[in-house]
Amino acid sequence: LGRNVYFEETVTSTQKIAHRLAYEGAVEGTVVVAEEQTSGRGRLDRSWYSPKHTGIWMSIILRPSIPPSRAPQLTLLTAVAVVQAIQEVTGLEPDIKWPNDILLQQKKVVGILTELQAETERINSVIIGIGINVNQERIHFPEELSSIATSLRLEKGEPVDRAKLIQCILLKIEKLYKEYMQHGFKIVKLLWESYSTSIGKHIVARTLTGSIEGKAIGITDEGVLLIEDLTGKIHQIYSADIEIPQE
Ligand code: BTN
Repeated sequence: LGRNVYFEETVTSTQKIAHRLAYEGAVEGTVVVAEEQTSGRGRLDRSWYSPKHTGIWMSIILRPSIPPSRAPQLTLLTAVAVVQAIQEVTGLEPDIKWPNDILLQQKKVVGILTELQAETERINSVIIGIGINVNQERIHFPEELSSIATSLRLEKGEPVDRAKLIQCILLKIEKLYKEYMQHGFKIVKLLWESYSTSIGKHIVARTLTGSIEGKAIGITDEGVLLIEDLTGKIHQIYSADIEIPQE
């Protein structure tokens, strides 16, 4: 990964640029990194706050020969790789909240957004967007984010080298991706479950159609979250916001 890297100062969204490059035939492993995004995108049509020089805002183009239904596995793979890289570079121990949030002290420090260019049964490309709050200080977060978001700097108490972290993330993704393409999802799934805070806990999943409450018992091979409700019924959750009520 990263043999083709596009460094940009200001962009609308690295996702948007990566989509265009992928469409134009960019090779697998092409990476777009920006210092600032003016309309960074999050999951579920949300925006992603991406101020100048403080974060890592990047998108990676992959071209795996897997069916589109397996694409969520790549989000989990990315989350595992980013956790490992943060551990290695900063010594901090983040955990993962399904499906794609990485937290420190229960506050969000990384978001991952996976988007596809696909025909019915075939993936043309997967665009993996990674946003990391690296060197923001408390005052840099707008009011509405300050109770739910944090940065590596705030948690570590000193600035973190963004270039080093980017390099480490790309290496970790490359390693896991190779393993995944050769041997499948198993290792990624085990690692993911070991970093996850939701598994084994009583959680509330808010989906577009309503809330489901119960124990998170694991993820499927497709990366779908399984919740067992009080009646013992098992629900498959494809997309939701997860809350872990405090005891
Ligand atoms: C989330 O909602 O948690 C996902 C956030 C993903 C943000 C990253 S920043 C780099 C890339 N470009 C975007 O516009 N979004 C992703």
